[in-house]
Amino acid sequence: MIENNVPNHIAIIMDGNGRWAKKRTFPRLFGHRQGVKRVKDVCNLCMEFSIRYLTLYAFSTENWKRPAEEVNGLMNLFREFLQKEAQNLINKGIRLVVSGRYHEFDDDLVNRIERLKEESKDNNKLVLNVALNYGSRKELVDAARAIVKKGYKAEEIDESIISEHLYEPDVPDPDLIIRTSGEQRLSNFLLWQAAYSELYFTEKFWPEFDRNVLIEALNEYKDRKRKFGGL
Ligand code: FPP
Repeated sequence: MIENNVPNHIAIIMDGNGRWAKKRTFPRLFGHRQGVKRVKDVCNLCMEFSIRYLTLYAFSTENWKRPAEEVNGLMNLFREFLQKEAQNLINKGIRLVVSGRYHEFDDDLVNRIERLKEESKDNNKLVLNVALNYGSRKELVDAARAIVKKGYKAEEIDESIISEHLYEPDVPDPDLIIRTSGEQRLSNFLLWQAAYSELYFTEKFWPEFDRNVLIEALNEYKDRKRKFGGL
């Protein structure tokens, strides 16, 4: 069983909704809808295993390139998720934080996000960090701009100053990054924060993600030796 050496923070690249749907001759959006259901499951599993932080890559700054129908469909799914799950999330002790330029979404979505962030801010059972309109390079650009605006001198800037100006500085670096659907790359996700993260790739598509997949990932993580550059 998963008792010791559980990661404090898991980050997931939820990939393969479209392919999962295509294999079943369903529209891509149906795959995304199934994907949202797995978000709920994975939050429950994290709480069960005492994982304190969960980051989910839900919409990248590159995802705007998809057809408008899919982008709109995704926005509606986010809205629906916030509508349906807000109270449940609060009751369960989950705190919502968001990483990314989500202020570029429409006003209604931004307001819903802000409201749930505020209403859940005292929760501490699980921090759910949703990466929305997120790109790691843009995050570093935004951090650099914030640092310059504050008037830091070049010699004052060190790693901790950069970390403190990322979108959610209170979220620690991920211990384990999982990517579903067999792709093996980071795709502009948490490039700074992933410096020492363990990576785990599974062939399962995101709509197939379940307890067993998570347990496999946790078991593999448990046996890895993290050296952080030491011996
Ligand atoms: C990847 O599948 C998934 C996405 C683009 C993100 C969509 C995320 C969800 C539906 C989960 C929603 C999250 C919250 C927090 C409500 P893909 O379309 O890239 O699949 P493909 O590679 O097979 O085309």
